[in-house]
Amino acid sequence: MNPHTIRIAPSILSADFARLGEEVRAIEAAGADLVHVDVMDNHYVPNLTIGPLVCAAIHPHVTIPLDVHLMVEPVDALIPLFARAGARIITFHPEASRHVDRTLGMIRELGCMAGLALNPATSLSVLDHVVDKLDMVLLMSVNPGFGGQQFIPATLAKLTAARERIAGRPIWLQVDGGVTVDNIAAIRAAGADTFVAGSAVFGAPDADGGYRTVLQRLRAHANTE
Ligand code: DX5
Ligand code: ZN
Repeated sequence: MNPHTIRIAPSILSADFARLGEEVRAIEAAGADLVHVDVMDNHYVPNLTIGPLVCAAIHPHVTIPLDVHLMVEPVDALIPLFARAGARIITFHPEASRHVDRTLGMIRELGCMAGLALNPATSLSVLDHVVDKLDMVLLMSVNPGFGGQQFIPATLAKLTAARERIAGRPIWLQVDGGVTVDNIAAIRAAGADTFVAGSAVFGAPDADGGYRTVLQRLRAHANTE
């Protein structure tokens, strides 16, 4: 039995951007645990998405935490802006910070949980010397930049290895990319406790309770062990 609490974090990257307030209210009402906000800068990744103004605009629409995933380089200057915009968790990629330890410390000093995101080809060894400053490890199960990609199977073994490295610590292990009702049980069994799902959630039209149904199915499948 995996003892860790499950959290599901719909990524608004796949939401209707013309109706973001409504969309985040709908996923909270449907049972989401976090709102995953994918911030892309057309530099660290090819896509360009959400800035702190949009984050601040959606913040009053929800009571669940905003889980901000920064795919930006350099990252430090944006962190206080997202903290002020209502982020509860701020995650960045180590390649985007010249001083990873300092950036993690800055996030915590601003009162947020600090996360480090590892791309599929980034080694877990980047965790070695900063584990005391981490609240969350995010393993990318696709290459960052776009929603709707296929889950990379090698992530399963990496999750298990990451879980061993953080054992005994209150660090969340998040997986991001290609999570579906069909693979969430295997991802959970590999050690993840926090699941980002973009297209799997927002691909289900919310009319007729679509978001609630898919979130319930994700949770139920994650719990089948
Ligand atoms: C990719 C983003 C993911 C993505 C997940 O760079 O970090 O959060 O939106 O979307 P799906 O679930 O569609 O793969
Ligand atoms: Zn993300």
